[in-house]
Amino acid sequence: MAKKIITEPSRTLMEYRLLPGYTPADCNPNNISLRTPLVYSEDNEKKYYLNIPLVSAAMQSVSGDQMGIELAKLGGAAFIFCSQSTESEAKMVRKIKNHKAGFVKPKTMKADMKVKEMFEIRKDSGHSTFPVVDENGLFAGLISKWDYDVSLHADCLIKDRMIKKENIQVGTNITDLIEANRALLESHKSVLPILDEEGKLISMVFRKDINDQLDFPLEIHDKKKRLISVAAINTHDFQERVRALVDAEVDVIAIDSSDGYTQYQADAIKWINENYPTIPVIGGNIITKEGFRFLVEAGAKAIKVGMGGGSICITQEQKGTGRGLATTIIEVIEERDKYFKETGKYIPVAADGGVTSTKDVTIALALGADYVMMGRYFARMEESPTDKIVVNNRVMKPYWGEGSTRAQNWKARRYNQGKFVEGVEGMVEYAGHLRDNLEETLAKIKSSMGTCGAMNISEFHDLAELEVVSALSIREGKPHDIYLSSENIDNQDYNSLE
Ligand code: IMP
Repeated sequence: MAKKIITEPSRTLMEYRLLPGYTPADCNPNNISLRTPLVYSEDNEKKYYLNIPLVSAAMQSVSGDQMGIELAKLGGAAFIFCSQSTESEAKMVRKIKNHKAGFVKPKTMKADMKVKEMFEIRKDSGHSTFPVVDENGLFAGLISKWDYDVSLHADCLIKDRMIKKENIQVGTNITDLIEANRALLESHKSVLPILDEEGKLISMVFRKDINDQLDFPLEIHDKKKRLISVAAINTHDFQERVRALVDAEVDVIAIDSSDGYTQYQADAIKWINENYPTIPVIGGNIITKEGFRFLVEAGAKAIKVGMGGGSICITQEQKGTGRGLATTIIEVIEERDKYFKETGKYIPVAADGGVTSTKDVTIALALGADYVMMGRYFARMEESPTDKIVVNNRVMKPYWGEGSTRAQNWKARRYNQGKFVEGVEGMVEYAGHLRDNLEETLAKIKSSMGTCGAMNISEFHDLAELEVVSALSIREGKPHDIYLSSENIDNQDYNSLE
């Protein structure tokens, strides 16, 4: 006889709808905050927050450095995938951390290098302005794309084309970004090199970065104003990987596993907490209250929940394991709240797998999740690491599961050492830039929260009232009994009874 048999079916997010609550006059999208904790931290100062409740899945076809940069700028976080070599994952993290701190350390050029040599480096780095140093390593000047034309100056020396130090305003030993930004604005220039007393370059501050900061008010950053980066690890090579990621200055580690209720995961969490106590670890995935307690007691600072619901996931079919995400969230949140009452520790919960539309995000948050992890949603964006393809005149992007054959080519096979697959490979329709898509998604989430009278996610947890809906009711929620003008009428059902 099985240890436990639950006869009530587990439910998906699609099966719930929100009931409106009282909406006060000031509860409008302009006043609604989507800020939410990423991980628990005893020291509130160090607590990391997301400014939007969305993170991208740790998957090869979703979360590379470009997604890491853009999503952090927009208030969320990409979980950099770990099904790649430790070096390349650490490189991605480094790229995110170096993206823009305000204080940037670009590659330096030697004064007696030829313009054509610099041009090659420029092509690779994508930067247009470089600091130049003399033979003693002291700052000598700046060279930017306006200072030369390769067709004319290829064989000239950089020192003959650069703007010399005497004509450049520099800052000395400035470590405060606000001060540096002020000095830059006062200088009327686009860049401010910061030197030490001896004249060695420490860093540079660019005006375009100041503009960027104004452009991205929700950006999440560390105390040095660098973007926050989150990176995934597996439970196989985690010691070497964590060392490299910490070297690259990762902020948060997330364990990527389809089943986190294991001794391996507890051991990994404990090891990280012992060796890197300032780096919070996100554990998961689990789908039961026992799994939640187990990982939290092992030291996890946030928990990912969900199994079997991902759009590319065939775990349920292959192994018979899994649970509807709504039921999972309800059970785990009950346990999370209980744990909070007992210990005063609020452990954020991320809902993961099968969150396909904004309404699913809203229902997951209403049920108590603090943020939502999505793969398919983000795979469609320009910023995902895949190339666009055209199929039947439609622009697509490839999307594949971490347990698919394609991802399993990576040696540390995540699921089952390659004896069978748990994920498929497919395509999703290209959706354009992340920023444009998020605008609509966030507007919808805020609108639902407003309907429930919630000014923030914590209030949403307290105020939301939900109801299970019938299949007919779901059908009724879509357009029906009309021909849609946007589609060919020959392809449409017209089901009216009258
Ligand atoms: P989606 O947002 O519905 O596309 O689901 C993404 C989530 O599916 C990820 O965050 C993982 O938790 C999960 N996942 C990723 N790859 C696989 C796989 O190959 N098999 C099963 N689940 C997967």
